[in-house]
Amino acid sequence: MLTVMTGGTRGLGRVAATQIAPGGTRIMGARRILDARAARRGDGPPPGWRPLPLDLASLASVRSFAAALPDEPITHLILNAGGQRSDDRARTIDGFETTFASNHLAHYLLLRLLMPRLALGARIVITSSGTHDPAEKTGVPPPRHAKAEWLAHPERNPDHDRIGAVAGMRAYSSSKLCNLLTARYLATTDEARAKGWQVFAYDPGLTPGTGLVRNQPWFVRALVWPLLPLVQPFAAGMNSLKDAGRGLAELATTAAAPEGRVYAALPRGKLTWPDPSELARDDAVTTALWHDSAQLVGL
Ligand SMILES: NC(=O)c1ccc[n+]([C@@H]2O[C@H](COP(=O)([O-])OP(=O)(O)OC[C@H]3O[C@@H](n4cnc5c(N)ncnc54)[C@H](OP(=O)(O)O)[C@@H]3O)[C@@H](O)[C@H]2O)c1
Repeated sequence: MLTVMTGGTRGLGRVAATQIAPGGTRIMGARRILDARAARRGDGPPPGWRPLPLDLASLASVRSFAAALPDEPITHLILNAGGQRSDDRARTIDGFETTFASNHLAHYLLLRLLMPRLALGARIVITSSGTHDPAEKTGVPPPRHAKAEWLAHPERNPDHDRIGAVAGMRAYSSSKLCNLLTARYLATTDEARAKGWQVFAYDPGLTPGTGLVRNQPWFVRALVWPLLPLVQPFAAGMNSLKDAGRGLAELATTAAAPEGRVYAALPRGKLTWPDPSELARDDAVTTALWHDSAQLVGL
């Protein structure tokens, strides 16, 4: 019995990781390998999790991580890591836009590499976001498309945002749409059906107190983000770190989706199963992203 997680070294993923203990070995992909003192400070994998090096900004690192996992059937796969940037100018070592590559492509490759090892009845959770849906009016520029080539190389998109901050946040919301589309496609595969996998895409809601905005301008980091917890108890779309982490842990361990549902959201701390955005429900878009991502990662 093997549990594998990304993004459990801080933020809502770390809160979840303290509650995910299904038995067996627990491995956490971590780009920072920290000592026991850091774990006691609440940084890095919580006790009980074995860290293995993983930098999602490198496809080679994803392949090494997958190869280094113990040779056991994977019963729980939690793909929670994610980040935002202040623009979309950075490129990974593989030459792809960094937010799209780290949040989506790396997780897609990891999932594809691990699919043959997923156990009967395995649970797979991919953390998405309500920012994928224009109808949610989150304030984050929503995705306009899910074309892998334009997301990997934004300069090739004739409709590319000129303002860096807008481009950066749209790259984020688009990557979260890709996380959701990946979960949707996975759930429809013959393997998922034959092996009874339970697949979820998760929107934790706006969750202040995490490290998500650390690459954003100073006023977001130093003013907006620290003040949001004061507003959180009164805002339906916002969750405490504790609730957002518990929601992820529930999906990873016990939650059951209504028939045909994959997307879970957490208004006021309670798991619900809303319709995702129109683009996220488009089967042609879903299939195209799966196949185009395979080409980009060299499968
Ligand atoms: N907070 C929100 O309002 C919110 C809302 C909707 C969705 N989400 C999603 O929730 C998930 C967790 O976010 P959070 O808010 O808890 O942010 P966070 O505190 O910044 O945690 C992000 C996690 O992802 C890991 N990570 C980021 N880039 C990585 C990379 N290149 N390689 C390996 N690991 C990497 C981080 O590792 P390090 O410890 O090394 O940094 C950390 O464990 C993300 O997918 C985010 O998109 C968050």
